[in-house]
Amino acid sequence: MKKKWWHDKVAYQIYPKSFLDSNGDGIGDLRGIISKLDYLKDLGIGILWISPVYVSPCADQGYDIADYYGIDPKFGTMEDMDRLLAEAKKRDIAVLMDLVVNHCSDEHEWFQKALKDPEGEYGQYFYFAKKKDGKLPCNWRSYFGGSVWENVEGTDWYYLHMFHKKQPDLNWENPKLREEIYKMMNWWLDKGIAGFRVDAIMNIKKPLPFQDYPADREDGLCNVGGILGSQEGLRDFLNEMHEKTTKPHHAFSVGEVFGLDDSDISRFIGDDAYFTSIFDFRQNVAGQTMLGWYDWKAPTPDEYKECCFTSQKVSEGVGFFSNIIENHDEPRGVSHYLPEYAQNEKGKKLLGMMYFMLKGLPFIYQGQELGMENCAFPSIEAIDDVSSRDEYQRCLKVGLNEEEALKVVSHYSRDNVRTPFQWNDEKNGGFTTGTPWLMVNPQYKEINAASQIGREGSIYEFYKSMTTYHDSSVWQDVYRHKADVGMLYIKLTVIDDVLVVSFKEL
Ligand code: GLC
Ligand code: CA
Repeated sequence: MKKKWWHDKVAYQIYPKSFLDSNGDGIGDLRGIISKLDYLKDLGIGILWISPVYVSPCADQGYDIADYYGIDPKFGTMEDMDRLLAEAKKRDIAVLMDLVVNHCSDEHEWFQKALKDPEGEYGQYFYFAKKKDGKLPCNWRSYFGGSVWENVEGTDWYYLHMFHKKQPDLNWENPKLREEIYKMMNWWLDKGIAGFRVDAIMNIKKPLPFQDYPADREDGLCNVGGILGSQEGLRDFLNEMHEKTTKPHHAFSVGEVFGLDDSDISRFIGDDAYFTSIFDFRQNVAGQTMLGWYDWKAPTPDEYKECCFTSQKVSEGVGFFSNIIENHDEPRGVSHYLPEYAQNEKGKKLLGMMYFMLKGLPFIYQGQELGMENCAFPSIEAIDDVSSRDEYQRCLKVGLNEEEALKVVSHYSRDNVRTPFQWNDEKNGGFTTGTPWLMVNPQYKEINAASQIGREGSIYEFYKSMTTYHDSSVWQDVYRHKADVGMLYIKLTVIDDVLVVSFKEL
């Protein structure tokens, strides 16, 4: 493996809506991020992934884009974005934009034009179909519940959406659409971003022609995620995208890739693969079933360890995974993975230590460095996320009562990680002077940045020492060595209150 600029970096994901509000409207924004670049620099961050800030009606919190070339006014302006890029550059922080190209918003100009003429030029940018013999083209269930087919009001046309009905899927089979996407990616790369986090990318290739699959629930539908995997033809799209955008720009890309066969990893990461890296979700998906959140279980510590070992082995000599404990779609890792008895500062640090010691690129999700926990939502109304609302209904349907349903959803809800960042113990945790768009986790009085920065033994200081270590020559020697020789056994011992880390080849 050739040494790359990003091998020794630590990355950080910002969920802009909930990071810091600079103007009191209750919504985090680009100026908020700019004002905290020094915080990120101090923490030792070298790569920043910013969740979507493009123009969006926010049916799925920005993952429904209405204009790829514009910044949504609630987040700021393109001038703010340019300033963010310039200020990040001064601090040697590379910025990744979120690339959401499996679908766009139904409010995007392309879709608006397509609606007027589903058989015309822009209709070909999407998937439109009519019922045949009274039947929809296929029985797939959208990720957010219900059929993937939505009727165009007042017509007999239907369009495909794997996610929310306000997120129509783009038709990657159409070369014109693909060229539009590449043009847009190159526009952003020319602007000076370092690359992309690539959203939901395994979905871009649909198994065609559309057909039914065996139903996996009583609604007669089948989970769309289960039928994807490495589709025939997906590779051609990914290869073309790489050749025409990221490769000529020497850009960084990290794919949100689910359901990949381990034997295919070398095509996805490594020298001249489609992506620079992909997220390793092995432990995140452990314990999940097709039935829904009510049926999911967190992996035990042993299962967690097994996931880590498998991932380290399968990526050996191939490339680097991007390692996460949580992201904007997952519950807080410390609430999910740690057994209750270990949900304390020591346990949180141990979990952090585990992942920093893995080969790969660590991504910290905002607030993880403080040990932020899941939020105790008082009711389903306090939750905004579309998938949580669907899963809540699902719980009721299978017979749970409201209290039980709320308990399930409170554990898995994506809003657990989307509550405002806890900067200090003042009103709204210092996130906004206005009314926050989503409730602040009541724990902000105890868990916040101000109380941890500079406090010896705090989780923040621990994370900071880990990023420093990651960037040190000692670690880099081990790291390189690790890349060459394979698995290492890492032993952690506490001697006289000092954590001793020793390495041994396996
Ligand atoms: C990805 C995003 C998630 C979003 C979905 C649809 O999984 O991480 O937040 O809802 O794609 O864009
Ligand atoms: Ca704001």
